[in-house]
Amino acid sequence: MGRVSVNNLKEGMILEEDLSAPNGRFILGKGAVLKESHIRMFKIWGVAGASVEGAEDGEIVREEELREEALRAARAFADSYFPPAGEEPLPAAAIRDFCARKFAAQIEGGKPPTPLPVMDAFPRPPEGHFGRTFSAWNLAKNEVRLVSFPDIYFKIQDVINSPLSSATSIAKVVGKDPSLTARLLRLVNSSFYGFPNPIQSIPRAIAIIGSNELTALALAVSTMTVFKHVPPSYVDMKSLWMHSIACGVFSRLLAYSKRIRNEERFFLAGLLHDLGRIILYTKTPAEMTYAIELSVFERIPLWRAEKRVFGFDHSSVGRVLLEAWNIPESIRKLCDFHHAPLDENAPEEALFVHAADYIANGLRIGTSGSVYLSPVEAEVWEALELEEGDMESILVQGERQIREIMNIFLVA
Ligand SMILES: [Fe+2]
Ligand SMILES: [Fe+2]
Repeated sequence: MGRVSVNNLKEGMILEEDLSAPNGRFILGKGAVLKESHIRMFKIWGVAGASVEGAEDGEIVREEELREEALRAARAFADSYFPPAGEEPLPAAAIRDFCARKFAAQIEGGKPPTPLPVMDAFPRPPEGHFGRTFSAWNLAKNEVRLVSFPDIYFKIQDVINSPLSSATSIAKVVGKDPSLTARLLRLVNSSFYGFPNPIQSIPRAIAIIGSNELTALALAVSTMTVFKHVPPSYVDMKSLWMHSIACGVFSRLLAYSKRIRNEERFFLAGLLHDLGRIILYTKTPAEMTYAIELSVFERIPLWRAEKRVFGFDHSSVGRVLLEAWNIPESIRKLCDFHHAPLDENAPEEALFVHAADYIANGLRIGTSGSVYLSPVEAEVWEALELEEGDMESILVQGERQIREIMNIFLVA
C-alpha cells in the first residue's frame, strides 16, 4: 500500500484515500477504481500522485526518489531563465513552482523540456548595422498595405454600429463564413466558457455571450489568417500563435479573477500583443537574429535587446499596424503597454496582459522568440489581488483552455 506517482498510475488501481488537487479541490473518493480518464484528469489538475491499494513499498520508494531527482533538475531548469527568486511575491513563486512541477513530469515521462539556446561569444552585428537607422513606422507601413486585416471583423463592426442591428443580422454576417461559424461554435462550447448545455447556433451564442464579445471572438478567430503566408525560415508562426493564445487565455483569466467582465478583449489583446515581432522577423531578419543572440548572450528578455538593436521594440511596430487596421483603442492600448504596464500613459488593465505574457513565457507554451523573463514588478502582482491558491487554479484552468483553443484555432 502506498503512494504511486501520477505517471505510474494504472487503470484498475483502487484509491486508498480521497484524492484532491494541489489547489485543494476534491477530485475522487477513497475506494474508486481508476480509469484512463481519471488519470488524464489528474494530470490536468496537477496531481503528483495518489495512494493506491496494494502497491509495493520498495517500488514506491524508488519512484519517489526518481521523482525527487526529476524535480531537482526541473527546478534548476526553471531557475535558469526565471528572474532571480529572492523574496518573490506569492503569485510569482506559484508560477515558478508550477513550471518546475510541469517540467518534472515531462522529465519523468521521458520528454524533458527543450534546453535553452547557448551563445558562447559576444554576437557580431550584421554587416553595415551601425550605418542603418530604423523606424517602426517605416517597417510597418508597407506591411499594412500588403496584409489586410480580416474583412469579417469590419463587417461585423458595421452591423453592430448600425441602428437596425440585431442578433439575426450579426449571425447572418458570421454565417457567410462557414469555417468561422464552426470555430466560433466550438469555442463557445469549450472549457473557455464552460456552459453546461451545448450552444448550437450563432444567434444563440450571441444571446448568451453578447454581440460585442462575439465580435471580439470573431476577430480573434480570423486573426489567425493574418500573416499565414510568412515562411517558416523567418519565424515559426505556429509557435508564435501558441504563445499568443497562451497570453490571451491567461490575460482573460486574470481579468476574470478581478471580476472584470467583457474579458474577451483581453483574449484578443493577448493574441495581438506580439504582432510587431512578425514584421521585425520578416523585414529585418539579420538584425533580429542579432537581437536574439544578444538576448541569449546577455540573458536579457528579447524586447530589451530589440531596443538596443533598433532603438525601439516590437510593441512600437505593432502599434502602427493596429492603428492602421482601426483596432479599437481599448484593445490597442493593452498591446502598446504590454511591456510597460506601470507607464503613466498605460491603462491599468495592461497589467493583465503583462503578467499573462510572463506566465506564457514561463510555462514555455510556444514562443515569440524571448528566452529570459523580465521580472514583474511587485506592484503589478499586488494590483492583481490574488489570494493564496488563486494562481495555481488559474494556471491549471489556463493550460486546459489553451489546449482546447489550440485545437480549434491551429488545426485546419
Ligand atoms: Fe512582447
Ligand atoms: Fe509575448
